[in-house]
Amino acid sequence: MLFKALSGLAIPAVVFALEGANGPDQALTFRCDGSFQISILDDLHYGEAPSSVGPIRDALTTNTVAKLLDYEPETDFVVINGDIISRDNVFFHNTTEYIDQAVQPLADRGLTWATLHGNHDPGYNRSVEDMFAREKRFPNSRTRSMVPDPQRVGVTNYYLPVFAADCPTGCGCTPELLLWFFDSRSGFEYQRLDGEGKRIDRPNWVDHDVVDWFLAENERITAKFNKTIPSVSFVHIPFDAFRAIQVGPGLDPSRNPGLNDMNVTAQAQHYCPDGVRNGTCAYGGQDIPFMRAVTSTPGMLGLFTAHIHGASWCYKWTAGSLPDYPVQPEGDGLNICFGQRTGYGGAGDFERGARQLLLRQDKLAKGELDTWIRLESGEAVGAVSLNETFGRDMYPASPNRKTFCEACLEWGS
Ligand SMILES: *[C@@H]1O[C@H](CO)[C@@H](O)[C@H](O)[C@H]1NC(C)=O
Ligand SMILES: *[C@@H]1O[C@H](CO)[C@@H](O)[C@H](O)[C@H]1NC(C)=O
Ligand SMILES: *[C@@H]1O[C@H](CO)[C@@H](O)[C@H](O)[C@H]1NC(C)=O
Ligand SMILES: *[C@@H]1O[C@H](CO)[C@@H](O)[C@H](O)[C@H]1NC(C)=O
Ligand SMILES: *[C@@H]1O[C@H](CO)[C@@H](O)[C@H](O)[C@H]1NC(C)=O
Ligand SMILES: *[C@@H]1O[C@H](CO)[C@@H](O)[C@H](O)[C@H]1NC(C)=O
Repeated sequence: MLFKALSGLAIPAVVFALEGANGPDQALTFRCDGSFQISILDDLHYGEAPSSVGPIRDALTTNTVAKLLDYEPETDFVVINGDIISRDNVFFHNTTEYIDQAVQPLADRGLTWATLHGNHDPGYNRSVEDMFAREKRFPNSRTRSMVPDPQRVGVTNYYLPVFAADCPTGCGCTPELLLWFFDSRSGFEYQRLDGEGKRIDRPNWVDHDVVDWFLAENERITAKFNKTIPSVSFVHIPFDAFRAIQVGPGLDPSRNPGLNDMNVTAQAQHYCPDGVRNGTCAYGGQDIPFMRAVTSTPGMLGLFTAHIHGASWCYKWTAGSLPDYPVQPEGDGLNICFGQRTGYGGAGDFERGARQLLLRQDKLAKGELDTWIRLESGEAVGAVSLNETFGRDMYPASPNRKTFCEACLEWGS
């Protein structure tokens, strides 16, 4: 009994220090020093052009992910923020198998991860539920699906708790941090055509049932632990405020370092307010409930998005940033950030990289976290503290460079 009690206290700490925490059979935990680092990969776009240049690009993407993870050896957890597989992959019989390639460098390193689906993942020939099932063959996947009717609201709506280092089982402990994942859908309905034989668009915003689920679940968790638990959230398609900030106050390269070289297309774009999409409406406002929810949630420190390959800035959205906008953030506002596009599929040649989040228990209590972008060259750029003075603090501007698939050139692409 004494031996058991002692080993329960002392030995696991040593084992974790040697082998790293956060294995597939454990809860997600902070390190003993109170830190937790997330590497965000986005827009991998595997499986594009499978008969020509695709396999070369896919191998390059896998190699890039491996390099980025090696440059960030303190990574505790990986988020793959959507567009894992290209929508225009023509093969029906093996379309979900590209998942295996996407997660291989993570599995090889014993890392666990969570994914979100992007607008390229749901295709006429690819069911997001099949994609989820394929991913769940890997024990290191922590992706969940928590909201009913996933074919309609999206599969990847869920949250994950992160616990202190001394709570490796997660049992009986209050989480130190919550990671929320929201599915912004888009893409096409699986194996359904309209009356004219055309593929059917899925709505491109976080469904209102998901927003209601988030609000109720967050309230339940807050009441259960009698505590506001710090949280961050992830979604593939930016909501409309990203677009409005880009055209409105704009981004200052020294206060908001990062790429700002592509116009933001956002949730609810091209829809009319009544949900009709007929080419006459610019924006339908269907993402307003989602924006209201995340900007009024106490403890929500940041929202991290992807999708725009030429944007990688962060901005502190506060009440008054967008004076006439229908949503005004409460409290200290919300930090909103793009990631850095990681894959070699998809449009544009902006230098590939991966946004990093460093969360520390002591800083979270003050509502702060640090973030930077690791580029495939090995360089770290755009490092900022998302703290009280973020938005006023000056930082070095980020470079805007291009990288190419040299081996693809012989294909003329
Ligand atoms: C769906 O898959 C079938 C069979 O592989 C193929 O003929 C068709 O072009 C694909 N359709 C789309 C929209 O990708
Ligand atoms: C899918 O099948 C095609 C044709 O059979 C093949 O060229 C491609 O490599 C396969 N993709 C995967 C991920 O296995
Ligand atoms: C909840 O926490 C507050 C202080 O944060 C405390 O005053 C109150 O007694 C707690 N309620 C319960 C039911 O534990
Ligand atoms: C963004 O849109 C504006 C207005 O339509 C256009 O003038 C500009 O060239 C676009 N910028 C980029 C980077 O596409
Ligand atoms: C497009 O849809 C909107 C909203 O339902 C409607 O007001 C408008 O008349 C439609 N326009 C066309 C050209 O169908
Ligand atoms: C926020 O972080 C920046 C960069 O580390 C630092 O210069 C600044 O003093 C910090 N602000 C506060 C209020 O701590």
